[in-house]
Amino acid sequence: MPRDAALRQAPPIALLAELTHRCPLACPYCSNPLDLIAREAELDTATWARVFHEAADLGVLQLHLSGGEPASRRDLEELVRRARDAGLYVNLITSGIGLTADRLRALVDCGLDHVQLSLQGIRADIADRIGGYRGGFDRKMAIAGEVARLGLPLTVNAVMHRHNMDDLEATLAFAADLGARRIEVACVQFYGWALPNRSALLPLRAQVDAAKAVVEAARPRYAHRMAIDFVPPDYYADFPKACMGGWGSTGLNVTPDGTVLPCHAAATIPGLVFDRVQDRNLQDIWYDGAAFNAFRGHGWMKDPCKSCARRELDHGGCRCQALALAGDAAAADPVCRHSAHRPVIDRIIATEGEAPAADFIYRRAGAASG
Ligand code: SF4
Ligand code: FES
Repeated sequence: MPRDAALRQAPPIALLAELTHRCPLACPYCSNPLDLIAREAELDTATWARVFHEAADLGVLQLHLSGGEPASRRDLEELVRRARDAGLYVNLITSGIGLTADRLRALVDCGLDHVQLSLQGIRADIADRIGGYRGGFDRKMAIAGEVARLGLPLTVNAVMHRHNMDDLEATLAFAADLGARRIEVACVQFYGWALPNRSALLPLRAQVDAAKAVVEAARPRYAHRMAIDFVPPDYYADFPKACMGGWGSTGLNVTPDGTVLPCHAAATIPGLVFDRVQDRNLQDIWYDGAAFNAFRGHGWMKDPCKSCARRELDHGGCRCQALALAGDAAAADPVCRHSAHRPVIDRIIATEGEAPAADFIYRRAGAASG
């Protein structure tokens, strides 16, 4: 994209800072890449602080501190302080493991604005099995209690799949009882560790239909207490989601080693060149970075997207899913009924979506290749 066109691009709203890939949990749907970045390669405190200031200068408003488990970073308090100094709204995306009441209070003192707590299940048996960590559920509940005591705004992030989708109604009630102002019911998306676990996680069609009905019925009941964001499983849809709101349009991800990505799975796309915060200013990366401009706008599209009226709505869907299932990142997302590759998804639904669930492959360093 020429520079003048690039400058017409609006600034990003949000920065997702993947502080570390270290995590005590091992969820089989983790969106982290199969090759996890080692602790030794993580950015240091000062570099992250510089990135936060560059982000604020660029126009970013919200910072999401994520991982892995961000509490695995000993300097998390300092990072929150530096982010707040930069003027960013600071959200902590956490499993709760690795936090304590004292640490949470310290984070609030440093300026933490919001907590997003993941929920693997609403009972210890299922939650600990999904997370691959015995005792995790009880520790998470203790932290949820502290979040409520401190009056911190809370979002519950419940990833739903074959093994917990039937608990959706109870999950909504559970999140409301925790004091959540918002719940993100995100049906598992098949990237990172979720892709090799697809045959263990893909929900049944009947579960998906029931889940949609549960959400519709629940919205009015929770209208004044808790917002419900529902991300349905796209394999069962006729048209794709507008992944990332359109490539390079709203946010950036910085990985633990400083690589700047337009989305969490972008590194799976061969041929893209990614900049690192150690080498280039965030503003240059956003406007001029080759990876960010690769699929911006609609100029890269081929048919059927190129001549489709829905391209303004979904921007052709997800580039990473097109690569994973159609072998071409510039193809229409195979979820789309107009895509020549839609039969791939229909076959997956007819096989994996009907068969008994496979065993989990847990997210652990070296597990993918070992
Ligand atoms: Fe979206 Fe492309 Fe399908 Fe049209 S053809 S609905 S733009 S994915
Ligand atoms: Fe990369 Fe959708 S996850 S574009």
